Amino acid sequence: MLVLGIETTCDETAAAVVERHDDGRATILANVVLSQIAEHAAFGGVVPEIAARAHVEALDLVIATAMAEAGRDFGALDGVAAAAGPGLIGGVIVGLITAKVIALVHKKPLMAVNHLEAHALTVRLTDETPFPYCLFLASGGHTQIVAVRGVGDYVRLGTTRDDAIGEAFDKTAKLLGLGYPGGQRVEREAARGDPFRFNLPRPMLGRQDADFSLSGLKTALRLEAEKIAPLTHQDVADLCASFQLAVVEMVVDRLRYGLRIFRERFGVPCALVAAGGVAANDAIRKALLNLAAQERVALMVPPPSLCTDNAAMIAWAGAERLAQGLCDGLDSSPRARWPLDQVGAPLPGPRPHATVKADGAALSPAGEEDGGSSNTVPSAVA
Ligand code: KG4
Ligand code: ZN
Repeated sequence: MLVLGIETTCDETAAAVVERHDDGRATILANVVLSQIAEHAAFGGVVPEIAARAHVEALDLVIATAMAEAGRDFGALDGVAAAAGPGLIGGVIVGLITAKVIALVHKKPLMAVNHLEAHALTVRLTDETPFPYCLFLASGGHTQIVAVRGVGDYVRLGTTRDDAIGEAFDKTAKLLGLGYPGGQRVEREAARGDPFRFNLPRPMLGRQDADFSLSGLKTALRLEAEKIAPLTHQDVADLCASFQLAVVEMVVDRLRYGLRIFRERFGVPCALVAAGGVAANDAIRKALLNLAAQERVALMVPPPSLCTDNAAMIAWAGAERLAQGLCDGLDSSPRARWPLDQVGAPLPGPRPHATVKADGAALSPAGEEDGGSSNTVPSAVA
């Protein structure tokens, strides 16, 4: 099963071609990621309007490059997947419309993929990890502990009450003058800093739930920085190291509770899985390794390039859904917000004009043939 994936939810324009073999293994035939860092750097963060325009300008070429690298043409595809949210709506619209056009012209099924679901399933692309597993999903906009029980079957066990972890890394970088994007830069500074110089708070530590809170840590960091300003290079490194250690300790504590809740509700998880841009952080990866050993659970983390945003994960999530007979109508809506635990539900909005079978034949209107469910195709797709 060959799927083209398109990712445009934030500041990466990406396209990938992934093959899902019958036994569930995957081959990434092409994985092209064009970062917009240069476009946004002067503004210290992602400017949604600039991002959307940059996606428009680059996406055709990025897709053409991925198809050329894969050595396949559109006719060879079994489906087209695009991230339909959550994310910056302008970019989401660009990617989803492009995928719809390719699906329409080449008569292929469309998969309107949830970006968070794609992060959640990446570990099955890289390691064929079986369900159920306990997922730590940490990106620029989300911080969650999730029970992943199957494709489209996600139960949120904990989440952040304020900022996401990636957002906290980005704000720390901005505060300390490290620029954008922040996560990697804070990690690099932390590597040469003293993590014990500043005694920053570890919010939520020891609480009997799996929730996070980052805002108190962020404020404490700002107050420490203001106390000793102007900052030397060493001050910046020490602040980064102290911040990162506080985050690591909080993550480990929250995940310990998350795993406990998982076991109580769903039994033994097949793995502890980390995903999202923050999972690229080496200190967090090492801490998770220790935690997994103590908790006697296997740790699965995709390589850093598949933790940060990419289209291989979108193509893979599309392939997983297509293999289950799930695809979407050509009028699927782009969504700025789309919680992971609502993924299994049919997409809201008007009934689709046409849903496409795996063999390319249009079912119109879809509801007449699939019992009214707007995002499933009957057993034709297998
Ligand atoms: O998953 P992702 O690429 O995009 C979103 O869906 O948000 O995650 C991006 C986030 C950013 O906040 C970025 O600062 C953070 O992941 N990040 C990191 C690292 N690399 C990326 N945070 C900490 N350490 C890193 N090495
Ligand atoms: Zn992401």
